[in-house]
Amino acid sequence: MDAREMKVKAAAAALAHVEDGMRLGIGTGSTAEEFVRLLAEKVHGGLRVQGVPTSERTARLCLELGVSLKSLDELPELDLTIDGADELDGNLTLIKGGGGALLREKIVAAASERVIVIADESKLVETLGAFPLPIEINPFGQMATRISIEKAAARLGLGGSLSMRKSGDELFTTDGGHYIVDASFGRIPDAEALSAELHSIPGVVEHGLFIHMASLAIIAGPARARTLQA
Ligand code: 5RP
Repeated sequence: MDAREMKVKAAAAALAHVEDGMRLGIGTGSTAEEFVRLLAEKVHGGLRVQGVPTSERTARLCLELGVSLKSLDELPELDLTIDGADELDGNLTLIKGGGGALLREKIVAAASERVIVIADESKLVETLGAFPLPIEINPFGQMATRISIEKAAARLGLGGSLSMRKSGDELFTTDGGHYIVDASFGRIPDAEALSAELHSIPGVVEHGLFIHMASLAIIAGPARARTLQA
């Protein structure tokens, strides 16, 4: 079974949690897109959901496949969000933002009663940090913000390097018009401490650590999909 098949398997298991009439947050990334494809089939079969997308990319796919959408302002409270992750640990702390949508993903997750993470088993780790942590920053004073991030990491004994995310020759710009710093800190033993440090920096808009947000993870391996509960 290849990686795509595992993503489809996790997405299919998540679909079983979607009920008629739900207000549904819809994640971003290749795993979330498998979910959107399966959801669209159900919608064509009569399932009624109101979807709130976490990115322009997801919105385009939903509209292409006929999944009707609302904005988070129209539907500020959601029943369930289904989204992928770049890494997750056994406590369901996540690293997200590999697809550059972490800010909207976090706002949508925070507005949701339940968040289900879907992933193939390569994403499940003992300790977070092999995947560089995406940090969304305001373009104004980006160098000063990067220096503050380095100092904050050093206070926690984290080293590593920061790199500005690019798209071709240009700096990558998020849906909100911000930049992304990918921070290769290595192992992150205390995600809550790092989160607090990063939130104390004015130029940091948001970071990709999702703590106490996911209620369930569906992890697909070659043999079966298993669940982890928060
Ligand atoms: C986007 C995300 C994605 O959920 C994360 O990058 C996982 O993507 P994929 O399913 O393609 O591995 O956080 O900002």
